[in-house]
Order: sequence, then C-alpha cells, then structure tokens
Amino acid sequence: MATVYFDRRDSDDLRRQRLYDGHLYVYSPQSSTSALCDFARDMCEEAFAPHDPRDAQHVLPVEQFVAILAELKPRFIHHPRSKELIREILAELGCDLQQTYFDVPRMRTAASGDYLRAGLGYQFKPHRDVWYSPPLCQLNWWLPVYPIEAENAMAFHLNYWDRAVENTSHEFNYQEWNETGRKAAPGLIKADTRRQSEAIEPLELEPDVRLLPEPGGMIIFSAAQLHSTVPNTSGRTRISLDFRTVHLGDLAERRGAPNLDSRCSGTTIGDNLRGTDFSHVPDEVAEMHQNAALV
Ligand SMILES: [Fe+2]
Repeated sequence: MATVYFDRRDSDDLRRQRLYDGHLYVYSPQSSTSALCDFARDMCEEAFAPHDPRDAQHVLPVEQFVAILAELKPRFIHHPRSKELIREILAELGCDLQQTYFDVPRMRTAASGDYLRAGLGYQFKPHRDVWYSPPLCQLNWWLPVYPIEAENAMAFHLNYWDRAVENTSHEFNYQEWNETGRKAAPGLIKADTRRQSEAIEPLELEPDVRLLPEPGGMIIFSAAQLHSTVPNTSGRTRISLDFRTVHLGDLAERRGAPNLDSRCSGTTIGDNLRGTDFSHVPDEVAEMHQNAALV
C-alpha cells in the first residue's frame, strides 16, 4: 500500500526512506520550483512565438515542431541558470547540498494525439527508471510547466512496486545508449527504433494513479516506480520538467529501493553533480556502482 505525502516537511532522511519504500511525495508550488517552471515556460514561449507552445502542434508541420525542440531542449538542459534553480529547489526542500547530487533537468513534451510520438516527443511506455542504469537510490523530481489534466498526466502503476516485471533491461547499457540512442532522437519523427528497456509481459495498467500538482508543483518518486506517459488526448501538448537526485551517503551504504527486475549495465552515476559545487561523485563511490543493477 502506497501513501502520498502532501506538502510534508519531513526531514530529507525520512523522505528518502519513504520514497525507497515506494511512497510518493507531492508539493505545492514553492518559490524555487515556480522559478524553474517560469524559466522553462519563458524559454518555450520564446521558441514557439507567436504560437502558444501547447497549441503549436496544430499549426506547425511536425518537422518544424521537431526542429524547434531540437534547439530548445538542449538549451534549457544545459543552461547554467537551470542548474542554479535546481540547487535552490533542493535547498528549499531541505536536502543537504553537500550530500545531494543532481542531474541536469530534462524538458519533456508530450504532444496530443498522433502528431509526434517518437524521438523528441517519445511517449514513455510503462517502465521503471532503474531499467536505465541509475543507482537504486535515484529519486525523480517531476514538475508540470502548464496546468495538467488526467488526460495528459503521468501515471503510476503502484501494483508493481513489489511485483517483478519481465523486461529487456539486460540489453540496456547506459554508456552505449549515450553513444547511439540519444543522438538519434531529433531524426526520429514517425517511429522510435531505438532500443529502450521495456516490459515484455502484459501489464495490468489499471488502476493507475495520476497526481496533478499545479504548475510549479512537484512530484518526487523512486526511480524504481513503474510509471508511464498517459496517452495525451487533451488536445494540447503537455510540457513538463524532471530531474534526478542521488544521495552520497546512500550510495556509499548501498541504500535505496529494492531491485526486483533490473539487469541493465553501465551507470548514470557520472551525470550527477554535487549541490554545492557541481563536482562529480567521488571515484571510489562511483566505482561501487558500476553495473550496480546487475542481479
Ligand atoms: Fe521515467
């Protein structure tokens, strides 16, 4: 049974433990989370001007839409301001910045209908992020940039928290993916041919749970949660942000969510930057997590 904690000011230690146990946290907009969403929204609106980014899919040829995303997404991801804003979020939420490492934020776009489902608009099938080579203590932080509805949200499949799913994660190696898959994204419009980790057994996706924080609000969940992009039938493009964190003490002690079914290789650990000075995870700890998901 999962619990959803709303606006709880728990210590970060307690919050991480509950997240590793399969519970969820939801926060109302805070000044730091709103600042990150405002920054992303301004960047989107500038890129799609004169169109509203949520409706541009109805007026632009898909190739042009993809070309705008191909420029916009990396600019947001790698903008120095994005990193600073994440640091502010972590501080406001009570994380110890010396111990907390984060990855640069992603900007996701989920177009409505069949307009764009591949490459830069990839519609994530039910998956656990731990099928993609992170440490088991990885937490995901997810924020909608515009109001969301049940028809364009993210869904959690909580029944699978303690149920293994047959999947292809044994074929996924993060270092290989970085060399090939990610670079191919802008060229993929009609179909996504990249090898993703995926479930290979029929899943019971109902009932699911959809949490709808306001823009600038935030969901935090374990990378071991099975979740998916709801097929967007809202008529508008959904734009969301997410980033991940890992905790140095938990990495060193191998604390985190249980590993039921992930067998991927490689590691994302090198992507994480310390909250204080943006340095990488120390080598001796990073070494411990090479191929850590192999069971
Ligand atoms: Fe995910």
